[in-house]
Amino acid sequence: MSVLIKGGRILTASDDYFGDVFVDDGRVALLGSSLDVTADKVIDASGKIVMPGAIDPHTHIEMFFGGTTTCDDFTSGTTSAAFGGTTTLIDFCMQTPGDTFAQALEKYHEKITRCPPVIDVGFHIGVTDLHTGGTLEDLAKLPDEGVTSYKVFMAYKGAVMVDDETLFKVLRTAHQTGGLVMVHAENGDAIDIIVKETVAAGNTDPVWHARSRPMETEAEATNRAIQLARVADAPLYVVHVSCQPSVEPIALAREKGWKIWGETCTQYLFIDETMMEKPNWEGAKYIYTPPPRPKEHQEHLWKAITTDVLSAVSTDHCPFNWPDQKGINGREFQVVPNGGPGIENRLHMLWTHGVRTGRITPNRFVELVSTNVAKLFGLYPRKGTIAPGSDADIVVWDPEKKLTISAATHHTNVNYNLFEGEQVTGAPEVVLVRGQVIVEDDELVAEPGAGQFVKRARFGEELLAAPAAAV
Ligand code: URP
Ligand code: ZN
Ligand code: ZN
Repeated sequence: MSVLIKGGRILTASDDYFGDVFVDDGRVALLGSSLDVTADKVIDASGKIVMPGAIDPHTHIEMFFGGTTTCDDFTSGTTSAAFGGTTTLIDFCMQTPGDTFAQALEKYHEKITRCPPVIDVGFHIGVTDLHTGGTLEDLAKLPDEGVTSYKVFMAYKGAVMVDDETLFKVLRTAHQTGGLVMVHAENGDAIDIIVKETVAAGNTDPVWHARSRPMETEAEATNRAIQLARVADAPLYVVHVSCQPSVEPIALAREKGWKIWGETCTQYLFIDETMMEKPNWEGAKYIYTPPPRPKEHQEHLWKAITTDVLSAVSTDHCPFNWPDQKGINGREFQVVPNGGPGIENRLHMLWTHGVRTGRITPNRFVELVSTNVAKLFGLYPRKGTIAPGSDADIVVWDPEKKLTISAATHHTNVNYNLFEGEQVTGAPEVVLVRGQVIVEDDELVAEPGAGQFVKRARFGEELLAAPAAAV
């Protein structure tokens, strides 16, 4: 199957020019102007932007968490992602305490077999237990399976939180194996005490979720993880940075040239803590962690993504229905499963409020949602760019397309949208994964199974593109 994408504005992290893209056998075969080739399918991209498919490095699909399971499976979650222009996601394969890492992987492979994805999928391993199931030896073997990033939680005491000993052992393992360690950085011990005191004082409404997780607890853990990564000489990626106090240690580390990277998520750029004050328990829709912060932190985060202090914007898509899942357990904030949806609207929101307002350049937009993620997580240059030999994961983006974001029209299983009613300008027209059209004219045109599991390269190594097909 060959595809000619004709006359578009080709946008990558480094380039911005007009031309044609010829795709053959799933890969970019030729780039040029007015290409004289015949193709099975021609896509007229005049007036459109042709960019590499976005990569979401932070999702929680069909994950058991907080006593319940996120409501997207890999078919629905990846369908929603595709409608938003995401062509690869990397999900957290969570180790159930007591399980070996091989068992954890087996369970997640079963999930993508039972509910096949429509976009490509990779896994990070979520390390929760090195005492009764997982061993460091097994952890060290995972990069051979294409699982080259290890995630640890410094929060969620009594659930998935690990102690510093485990964090440090994982960092040392990453140093040896060429893995990248990802941390959820919050001081879980301190938060546990504050939450218990808050509830004991009778403060149980959703907004107290934010009030019981001070920003300093995030900053302290961020700094601790950075320093431990230094001692272990391991690369570190701090997930979902929500506020200036935790931006600061990352900024300092990067200034010093240390191997530290950070991401924020769409919601931290747009949702502030006042949303949690909505009456009738609606504030529970925004119970995710770290919590929404005071509004002024949004400007700090915009600055950080502009100046490369933060290198990526992910979604942390972790969907629970409201109120069925978000309102359970006697309506006390501390028992609400933590997580919010967002897999479909990352590009819409960033384009509308970032590129169109001039806060970020179009090239930076591609870097934040695709290229930097591909480079950090062992997918580049097969993914994250449009170059001869790279996978033809391509979004034909209509920069003038208008859309009202709504739970009524999005494609995830979750029944609310964090950005409900938001008017955006800029949306995908056609989305291709390895040359196969997945979404066109607002329709899903591929079957579940169009997506594949991707084995990723080790940190700092390239995932080699196959040689370009002869034309
Ligand atoms: O509230 C959140 N973010 N839930 C998902 C798990 C995590 O902390 O990333
Ligand atoms: Zn987290
Ligand atoms: Zn998460």
